[in-house]
Amino acid sequence: MQFFIDTANLDDIREATEFGILDGVTTNPSLMAKEGISGDKNVMQHYLDICKIVGPGKEVSAEVISTDFKGMVAEGKKLAEIHENIVVKVPMIRDGVKAIAHFSELGIRTNCTLVFSAGQAILAAKAGATYLSPFIGRIDDISWDGMSLIKEIFEIYSTAGYDTAILAASIRSPLHIVQAAKAGADVVTCPLSAILGLLNHPLTDIGLAKFLADHKKANG
Ligand code: E4P
Repeated sequence: MQFFIDTANLDDIREATEFGILDGVTTNPSLMAKEGISGDKNVMQHYLDICKIVGPGKEVSAEVISTDFKGMVAEGKKLAEIHENIVVKVPMIRDGVKAIAHFSELGIRTNCTLVFSAGQAILAAKAGATYLSPFIGRIDDISWDGMSLIKEIFEIYSTAGYDTAILAASIRSPLHIVQAAKAGADVVTCPLSAILGLLNHPLTDIGLAKFLADHKKANG
């Protein structure tokens, strides 16, 4: 399973890259706004900075703002030209599906975002999306079971033989990451805190303290 970091914060992206387990980055307009990035030129530069930090061969999702086919295609092409790492993120709407099919014909990688149902997942795969982003946390937020959607999509994609990778998004905790891996997600995208949270186990801390204390006793 691949690990993407879900942020536009350059320090977090640097830290995750240095940690050595990062496969990519996902951003969205809210995450870009949170970093105070606005205006076409600054947005493009920020995506380029992210691509340079993560290095070659990593996937960086950059989301289109347009909601009509023509606008999404024009924007997506501009984004894809920034760097070979860029994956064009497109919302799950009628024109979005059409744009994904178009990008797929052009060989431009896509991430279909704002996915909340198995039916939407089928449409995105049919259109040739590279990645599909079901939003686990937001489904949990309304008291439904986000992880069961990952299981359902995994079953459908396995049965139908779709190539689209399942990118579990809106991940909020280390437990979500483990559950997504069990449910068959190809990728998880999560905040740095959730990734680092996977490190934690009290027995690891107790065990290490004991090893170091015993070593000190024996070696003075
Ligand atoms: C990533 O692709 C999504 O935009 C992101 O995971 C959404 O997360 P949120 O529901 O925590 O905003």
